[in-house]
Amino acid sequence: PTVFVVTPTFKRFVQKAELTRISQAFKAAKKLHWIVVEDSVQKTDLVGNFLKSSGLKYTHLNIRTPFTLRRHKKEFRRLKPRGVEQRNLAIEWLRKNIDPQRTSGVVYFADDDNTYDSQIFDEMRWIRGVGVWPVAFTGGARWAGPICKDGQVVNFHANWGLFRPFPVDMAAFAVNIKKLILDFPKAKFIALKRPGMLESSLLRQITTVKELEPVTQNCSKVYVWHTRTETPKDSILGERGLIKKGTPSDQNVET
Ligand code: UGA
Ligand code: MN
Repeated sequence: PTVFVVTPTFKRFVQKAELTRISQAFKAAKKLHWIVVEDSVQKTDLVGNFLKSSGLKYTHLNIRTPFTLRRHKKEFRRLKPRGVEQRNLAIEWLRKNIDPQRTSGVVYFADDDNTYDSQIFDEMRWIRGVGVWPVAFTGGARWAGPICKDGQVVNFHANWGLFRPFPVDMAAFAVNIKKLILDFPKAKFIALKRPGMLESSLLRQITTVKELEPVTQNCSKVYVWHTRTETPKDSILGERGLIKKGTPSDQNVET
């Protein structure tokens, strides 16, 4: 089975570093198809060229988050979920372009700022419905996610958000493509205003907690970390200074 990895991404200082880090974990996996969806009006050369030379099988898409759904400066960060339109476009692309009778596989929503152990791809590719596993540095704890026993999810661990129907991070589950293409051809992410509901907004359309399939040895191993990259403020401010002085860092050197 193929692992279709869906990554929403947007232009910023650290974008290429993020894409480089995660792509190297993806490269170490077999049968992986990367669907990169830029949050932009047009596809950028940076991402296009990056993908071309990545050595990965990929599809490059773009859709700009509509103004009303964009998170604007000073807005509380949790009220507007990110990457919604981008992930939904990728789901639509799969429905249009993949015949699940001919191609078996799973879909995984892998944000560009996480850290992935490539082992996770070999574990998730055998999921028949929806599979889940713990993710480190989420839910206000060292790790959060499902607690599993004898091949069943019996509970969830988190220090925040246990009210949610599926208290897991985006990076904590994968879905068999048959489920999204054949069984639930209209299922998609919904940008609810309630914080932390994005994962549940999709999952509750396609599965139940009882049906969830534990991955990573009964959910006992962490292969994904919600690391989030620090913004290199000194470099951003410093470069602004250099531009003002008329001596910017060489534009021909891409970062
Ligand atoms: C958490 C979850 O891990 C995300 O999956 C979820 O989308 C997000 O909360 C949310 O509630 O919106 P967090 O680290 O806060 O993650 O979110 P980001 O990593 O900043 O964004 C998620 C993805 O969307 C990333 O791949 C990012 O590159 C992308 N993104 C972010 C855009 O495409 N456009 C943006 O304007 C911002
Ligand atoms: Mn993130």
